[in-house]
Amino acid sequence: MRSDEIYKRGSEIIPKAAQTGLRSETHYPEPFIPETAYGCKIKDVNGKLYTDYHLAFGPIILGHNYPEVNEAVKEQVDRGVLFGAGMCELEVEVAEKLVSLIPSAEMVNFVNSGTEATYHAIRLSRAYTGREKIVKFEGCYHGWHDYVAFNVNTPSDKLGKLYPHSKGILKAAFDTTIALPFNDSDAFKELMAEKHDEIAGVILEPIPHSVGAIIPKKEFLKTLRKETKTYGSLLIFDEIITAFRHNIHGVQEEFGVIPDLTTIGKAMGNGYPIAALCGKKEFMSMIHNGVLVSGTYSGHPAGLAATKKTIEILEREKVIPYISRLGEEYKKALRDLIEDLNITARVVGYKSIFALQFAQGEVVDYSDIAGIDKGKFRKFTAEMRRRGIFFTPNPMKRCHVSLAHTEKELNEYLDAASEILPSLK
Ligand SMILES: Cc1ncc(COP(=O)(O)O)c(C=O)c1O
Repeated sequence: MRSDEIYKRGSEIIPKAAQTGLRSETHYPEPFIPETAYGCKIKDVNGKLYTDYHLAFGPIILGHNYPEVNEAVKEQVDRGVLFGAGMCELEVEVAEKLVSLIPSAEMVNFVNSGTEATYHAIRLSRAYTGREKIVKFEGCYHGWHDYVAFNVNTPSDKLGKLYPHSKGILKAAFDTTIALPFNDSDAFKELMAEKHDEIAGVILEPIPHSVGAIIPKKEFLKTLRKETKTYGSLLIFDEIITAFRHNIHGVQEEFGVIPDLTTIGKAMGNGYPIAALCGKKEFMSMIHNGVLVSGTYSGHPAGLAATKKTIEILEREKVIPYISRLGEEYKKALRDLIEDLNITARVVGYKSIFALQFAQGEVVDYSDIAGIDKGKFRKFTAEMRRRGIFFTPNPMKRCHVSLAHTEKELNEYLDAASEILPSLK
């Protein structure tokens, strides 16, 4: 098969045959070599067509290859691919739009990846407070840099300790990063009472989707806001998955908790590389004013043109209410199916995101997810893939729906799942 031939060539010269760890052969026992993608479909080099629920880890909110967005990008690159000097009007237009949408955004700085955005948020929190330590929460992912590459998919037997996800992390990062359980207000209050004068920033995914979904207790988010305000630490919401997918204003709006800094990315550009750090002027005005932020491709016109158009379509087509409703239908139908078939599994998620986990019980924090049955999930993924339904085989991850998904895909998903699940009792 063509995929075997390409995979063989790639695996000799590309580490683990992938550009990022979660796309690698560790997670894909059967190589996946995509060739084209359109709407909710993705086709591999062997000509097999799949309905895509992975959507590239979430950015594809309108569907793959959305013609209007592509057209806007083409028009922009015809005018110039990269200026790298001064500031172009498109930057101002998109920044103005973001300031009008995101409650915590008074100023905006564009970068190309979520990792850059969280890195800068953390450095800014250190620069502003003159303190060094940061607090993150078990199950939240904020990119690959040293200060946050801890405690995302911690193995069950390592819970409660700082757990690095890479070799080569600086000792200073171990000394300055604190990982706490999500939704545990008492643990956070205790830490702040003891160490508040060392804590520069507190960073979290308001809904930790990096491990499926953990729904935040309102009281937990409010506690984070109150304590950080009292002690002068910066509260950073990483809304790279949630903003634009769940709410055009970010979930900070619906949870009624406004952070100091917000990182956004993914769905804002429907697949083009773009991310941003936004926040209150008091903090953001330190950027290029003592705090180094730099990047040859930052504020890239292609990503900005895609963002401007994507946001316009999100508003015009009422995309978020549509995908949110459809996502809820998937969750309900899948829950009903599991119950009918009497399978030991649960469905977690929020709005357009859902995840099937082979485990039982409520999810309050990451310790409720650490022990899910990974083997069963991999079998489920492989069988669904055989039936033309694609999502990542990583059991901790999630499925997304886009504007291109309909009830037809929902019914196909359910038909396939009802064939497979009885063998996974
Ligand atoms: C919540 C969250 N923060 C940060 C990142 C890092 O973003 P990027 O992969 O664009 O560097 C991700 C990526 O998956 C994410 O989901």
